[in-house]
Formats: sequence, C-alpha cells, structure tokens
Amino acid sequence: ASTGSMIVVSNRLPFVLQRNKEGNLVRKASAGGLVTAVAPVVINGNGLWVGWPGIHLDDPNEPIPESDPSDITPTAGLKSEKVIAVRIDPIIFDSYYNGCCNATFWPLFHSMPDRATFKGEHWKSYVKANKEFADCTLKALKSLPRHAGEFPLIWVHDYHLMLAANWIRQAADDLGLQCKLGFFLHIPFPPWDIFRLFPWSDEILQGMLGCDMVGFHIADYCLNFVDCCQRNLGCRVDRKNLLVEQGGRTVRVRPLPIGIPFERFVELAEKAPRVFGTTQKIVLGVDRLDYTKGLVHRLRAFEKLLENHPEHIGKVSLLQIAVPSRTDVKDWSAELTGRFTTPNWSPIRYIYGCVSQDELAAFYRDSAVGLVTPLRDGMNLVAKEFVACQINIPPGVLIVSPFAGAGETMHEALISNPYEIDDASEVIHRALTMPEDERILRMNYLRRREKLNDVNYWTKSFLAAMGSLVTQEDHDD
Ligand code: UDP
Ligand code: G6P
Repeated sequence: ASTGSMIVVSNRLPFVLQRNKEGNLVRKASAGGLVTAVAPVVINGNGLWVGWPGIHLDDPNEPIPESDPSDITPTAGLKSEKVIAVRIDPIIFDSYYNGCCNATFWPLFHSMPDRATFKGEHWKSYVKANKEFADCTLKALKSLPRHAGEFPLIWVHDYHLMLAANWIRQAADDLGLQCKLGFFLHIPFPPWDIFRLFPWSDEILQGMLGCDMVGFHIADYCLNFVDCCQRNLGCRVDRKNLLVEQGGRTVRVRPLPIGIPFERFVELAEKAPRVFGTTQKIVLGVDRLDYTKGLVHRLRAFEKLLENHPEHIGKVSLLQIAVPSRTDVKDWSAELTGRFTTPNWSPIRYIYGCVSQDELAAFYRDSAVGLVTPLRDGMNLVAKEFVACQINIPPGVLIVSPFAGAGETMHEALISNPYEIDDASEVIHRALTMPEDERILRMNYLRRREKLNDVNYWTKSFLAAMGSLVTQEDHDD
C-alpha cells in the first residue's frame, strides 16, 4: 500500500481572513515557522489543510476567498478548495488559544514554568477545541476519494493539537477508514520534571501516542518525550530505537529537524535591491515579539558592546524586526537609543510589524551579523533563512543561542549564551571583527548543510519515518 493524499491539520491556516471595507473576506499571509515550512507540502501536493482562519465566521457557508492576484507570498498558491476552515465558539477559542495553548503550553514547553498558568477551564476548552479539529479532519477524511491500496496520511501539527490524533484514530477505526497518523511538534518537548507540572499531562501523552509516528526537531526532545511516556504512563520504551509501546501498538519517535525552502531564499536574495548604505554595519534580529526570543537580553548585550568597544559607535547599528504576536515585551529600547544616539547615527533601528520574506531576504543578505539569540526555541527558521541569503562575498556571520534547536545543528555559527550578557557582547564583537577567510569558511559549511537539509528533505524524511512509499517527487505535480 502507498500513501495517496495528505491532510494537514494545524491550529493556524497559512493565512488569516479579514473583512475589507466592503465587508468581504480577504486573505492576509500569516508569519511563523510552521506556516513557512508546511505550506509547500499542501500547495504542491495532493492535500487538504484543516485549520483556523483567524476570524470567527457567523455564516458557516460563507466561502473562503482565493488569494489576491497581487499576493506573491508562498502561500498564495493554496487554493480555497484545499482549505477546511475550523469554526469554534469564540469564547471557547479564546480560552483554548490564549489560555491553554499560549499561557500554559507555550511557556511550559519552553521550560519557563513560572510564566505558565494552569486553569481547569482552559483545559476543558482545549479538549473541546481539539474535538472540533478532530471532527473536521474526520469529515475531510471521509470526503477524500479512495483508491485501492492507498490510504491517506494525516499530519497533525504542534502544541495546539496534542489530543486530536487519538480521537481521529478511534473514529476512523470505528468507521473502517484506513489512514496513517503523524504528529510534529514545532516547539521543544520539555524534560519530565517540567512536563509533569501540567495537571493533565497523561492525557497529552495519550493523545500524541494515537499517532503512528511522533516527530520532534532534535534528539533531546525525542528523549524527553520517551522518558515522559515511560515515567507518566508506564509505557515500555526502547530508547536506542526511539520506540514507545502503547495499547498494543508501537509508536515511532523521530528527530526530524525542519528546513527552509533554501533555493527560494537564494532567489529572493539575488533579486532584492540593496537596503542599507555601505558605511554602516548592521547586526540583524528578526523575531515575533515573544519573551522566548530574548529581545531584552539582546538589547543589553548590544549596549555592553558599545560600552566595552566604543570603536563600534557610529559604525554599527542593531536592526530589530519585531512582529507583533500574542504577547508584548517590556520596551526599554528607548533608554539605549537615547544614551548613544548622535545626529547621524542611532544604535538601534526598530521595525515593528510583519515584513514580507522578499524584503527580509534583502535584510538577511546585507547584514554583517545575524543575531539569533532566543532563550529557548524549538528550531528557529530565521537562522536558516539568514544563511541561505548570505550570497555576498565575503559573507556575514551567524550567531546562535545554544538553547535553540538551530544551535544544536548549525555547528559553524558562533554560539552565544543570551543569559551571559558580557560574553554575548564579546561574541558580537568577535563576529564584527572576524577575518574574511574565516567568515567564508564558516558560511560555506552552514549554507551547504541548509541546502541539503531543506524543507523538501524534511518532508521526505517525515514520509520516510511514516514508512510511506511516496516520495516528494510524487507530490510535485
Ligand atoms: N517572518 C516573516 N516576517 C517577519 C518576521 C518573520 O515572514 O517580519 C517569518 C520568517 O521568515 C520565518 C518565520 O516567520 O519563516 C519565523 O519562524 P521561526 O522559526 O524563526 O520562529 P517562530 O515564529 O516560529 O517562533
Ligand atoms: C510558532 C508555533 C506555530 C505558530 C507560530 C505563530 O511557530 O510553533 O504553531 O503558528 O508560532 O504563532 P500564532 O500564535 O500567531 O499562530
């Protein structure tokens, strides 16, 4: 048997629906690592995408609009016939998304338990929302044409939907509908002593174990998950082969480090006009505005750099692109700006808003240093996009936090512990003063790895881990 079609299930669709002045629905591209990575799979393949459209629609029959002809984002090619918008009561949705997902799982899974809240109401809403997603997925499964020897693949994504897979499996079994289920977590999976703080942690593991395969970015997260299954549920596990036995089934656990559409970023970097003058060097940060991204620590490190190495004053600026998202961060950049600014130069340039990837490519290409210093991050695609766009000779330098998945895999980057402000500022100094031949050598290795392990490779690895016989080429109609 082989896999025919694929149903992707994620909280967020790759676009947000908004009403224009005339009251018509229009699409707006949404940012985030998940969307960037998964959209090509559905657009190029024989698939459906089940997700939340970013707006509460009163009329369940109101059609999803096609993308605007001027839309040049990678998700523009997603036809509305491939989209199933999940509708959830607004109060439940708020308690599920802002409550359980983003006030509980997000901080807890990023090992920041002090920021996490644990509320029974939020958990109940999480259960209800996951049921809605599971029901919609089942409808999608029923609607798919069936060919002999083929069964659809259902790919559930991220911390919003950790319960859905088990219900989909049970319902599909009851109806005699064959399918294979995979799950991928885009954020870290925490160690057991953090995970067990969640009062309903057993249910989460049971939900995920409804899948045939559970994927994480790196081996550490896999081992944490296997450990939790053993210690919470008493499952028999095989750490060497990353297997967990549950309910008479064996679930595979796999490290599948996510990649980026490398060639697309190279092309964007080749096309984009210059964005900076030649007199000043730019140190670049690109993040959703989120406490896990370490923006305050980054500003402190940059301030220390200017204090300890005043030769950079007037010559180097930090450009921080911050996409508003979910939470806000205490704004103390004003103090630093006031302290060092001269009439011709400001230490910080700040863009508050979502920048298109076409524009990002130019920022990535023309920056001297890419500063990716989250306190904790599942992978971090910005680090990978930065190296893809480093087509200038000599190239710039990437700095990565060891607490991002990217820090585990991008060995030739400079590693910087964001908590150690003095050292972090010295690492920026080292990047700014690194000899050209060392920059070239490091960047060549980094680019080679990301080119090989791009998003297509990630998809292939996922399918291979699912034991599927279909390759990505079969999907590229
Ligand atoms: N991004 C974007 N516009 C912006 C900032 C970010 O399109 O102004 C995209 C960026 O290109 C990347 C994604 O958002 O693909 C961020 O992914 P990452 O893994 O770095 O972080 P996440 O937001 O998933 O935590
Ligand atoms: C991270 C999560 C994604 C999420 C994205 C944007 O990448 O892993 O699941 O979609 O952030 O966050 P948002 O809450 O706006 O969807």
